[in-house]
Amino acid sequence: MKKTNNVKKSKTKIWVVKDKEKDIYWPSKEMKKKANISDEKIYEEALKDPIAFWAKMAEEGLYWFKKWDKTYEENPPFFKWFIGGKINASYNCLDRHIKAGKGQKTALIWVPEPTEEKERFLTYEELYKEVNKFANVLKSLGVKKGDRVGIYLPMIPEVQIAMLACARIGAIHSVVFSAFSGESLKARLIDANAKVLITANSYYRRGKALPLKQNADIGVEGTNVEKVVVVKRADIDTSMKEGRDFWWHELMKNAKDYCEPEQVESEDLLFILYTSGTTGKPKGIVHETGGYLTQAYWTSKWTFDMQDDDIFWCTADIGWVTGHTYACYGPFLTATTLLIYEGAPDYPDWGRFWSIIEKYKVTIFYTAPTAIRMFAKMGEEWPAKYDLSSLRLLATVGEPINHEAWMWYFKNIGRERCPITDTWWQTETGATLINALPGIGPFIPTVAGRPFPGVNMKIVDEQGKEINWENEEGGYLIQKSPFAPGMLRGVWGDMERYKQQYFSEFGPNVYFTSDGAKYYDKNNIRVTGRVDDTMKVAGHRLSTGELEDAITSHKNVTECAVVPIPHEIKGQTPIAFVVLKDAQPSEDIKKEIVAKVVEKIGPTAKPEQIYFVNELPKTRSGKIMRRVLKSLLLNEDLGNIMTLQNPESVEQLKKLFSQK
Ligand code: WTA
Repeated sequence: MKKTNNVKKSKTKIWVVKDKEKDIYWPSKEMKKKANISDEKIYEEALKDPIAFWAKMAEEGLYWFKKWDKTYEENPPFFKWFIGGKINASYNCLDRHIKAGKGQKTALIWVPEPTEEKERFLTYEELYKEVNKFANVLKSLGVKKGDRVGIYLPMIPEVQIAMLACARIGAIHSVVFSAFSGESLKARLIDANAKVLITANSYYRRGKALPLKQNADIGVEGTNVEKVVVVKRADIDTSMKEGRDFWWHELMKNAKDYCEPEQVESEDLLFILYTSGTTGKPKGIVHETGGYLTQAYWTSKWTFDMQDDDIFWCTADIGWVTGHTYACYGPFLTATTLLIYEGAPDYPDWGRFWSIIEKYKVTIFYTAPTAIRMFAKMGEEWPAKYDLSSLRLLATVGEPINHEAWMWYFKNIGRERCPITDTWWQTETGATLINALPGIGPFIPTVAGRPFPGVNMKIVDEQGKEINWENEEGGYLIQKSPFAPGMLRGVWGDMERYKQQYFSEFGPNVYFTSDGAKYYDKNNIRVTGRVDDTMKVAGHRLSTGELEDAITSHKNVTECAVVPIPHEIKGQTPIAFVVLKDAQPSEDIKKEIVAKVVEKIGPTAKPEQIYFVNELPKTRSGKIMRRVLKSLLLNEDLGNIMTLQNPESVEQLKKLFSQK
């Protein structure tokens, strides 16, 4: 067993200090001294000439087989970075560290859910070997550069191995969250036209070995997937289809342990990641190689301040972009030790996360506000049992963090010693774009912070005019060109949707985030949340459209509307309004509707409440007025309802709520 880096010496260090007057925090002298960057001038310098800045960053941060001919080119809404440059993601995550003598350093610590099972430590050398072998396996299955490979794996080391192996041969991976249903896997495999799927027979959740392969079988049916590679995670009965399904360990047995890395063009695609948009159909966000890696590298270095002696734990699942960038590419690019955990935060009890931090001496911890609120509810006695003195930096992502959750995290996990960096970003942006840098600060509860150096984020009004920082109303969060290198390059197979969704609201020169925002002061931005039909439920991004599609697939449902409402722990939660045909409202129908959602999307999308109604409020053109439903639910002023086609529907709804 390899030893992890020892960071005991940080025991008594204080990494953050409170402002004398305001409810904000600054890096301590110690933090300023340690941090990879602590000079505020970087912001101004980078924005003077972002193209030159990113060119310097790409050159310093990454290894290029061939340097690019041109740094940036745009024909809005399309743009390219590092044109003509040749690079390989797995080479940058592995080979170059080994060449630099870091082969024996721990790359990955994997903590399985069952407490009686041993953790796994993989050095950079060992990870390198596994990746090379699996790259050869993929080749032997006929995977070539540009082919799409589906990955439907839980948090086990094979997921990073599979991703890096795809990158090594220039194949495009498309990871699907393992808690998504077989049906949603299928939709994604079809859209990406994947040739191979990598999955596991099982994974552990709250002590149970779940039958993942059964979902994978549903997912593969009726797609162009020819071969399925199955990791044996648990000893459970697993049906394997002759000629299609292969065990990972059997294929790996004879695989050669070196595979030449493919020298891909910087703009060649690294991955597709499906996310929810405003319609029911998830969209495949595409990320290319060189620009994405540049941004993943520098945000890891500067936002998370990853250093040689750090143990970095990002709790996000690999099925989300946070998992891609900070539980795979970012930490490996910077040769950091990454920790991943397979299971649930409450298994065997609510102390699990804190026991992991104590045992492995985690120094940087990255999680979501929804998790923090859950821990807060469970009580501070859980973290209080553990020694969390190894921590030096905390971070959050996924949704706005409320003041109470911020303070709870600061006090009970950081013990008032660690800064919290609140990272704002999106699947589309590839890496965090707004956050406080640990060596610079300030850390302001509920405020994401400052745009990352070299990224031009602004807040505009309805007309697209930039608002003054003193404007208290706020506006829409946008990005101006030159667009950050890690930004999406399109929507897989649907460039029209790319234009429409991101570059039409304020014209092709402006990327629209779909988030509302306000300035806290001249520099710092508070992101207030989505202004479209996307919601964040316990950190998971879902669209009302997706849920509505799933619910209307029930044979007795004619119509339905889903609206998110605030939820104490989950941030938001979906409420469904359903119109039935040929059936009477009943608890059984409710259960069937929930089952449909689980089948089509997965358990994370279950509606909190289902209301049966005769009619939904609609505009004269027939559009469902979700705004009215939401106001009714929240007991708010309904605003102007004169334009409704059926104002009587509102009366019925009012009655329904008064009966509650
Ligand atoms: C929200 C997650 C406030 C936002 C990386 C964004 C946030 C959406 C923050 C993207 C934050 C993410 N503060 N809101 N720190 N981080 N969001 O694609 O609404 O799953 O548009 O990416 O999450 O969600 P996605």
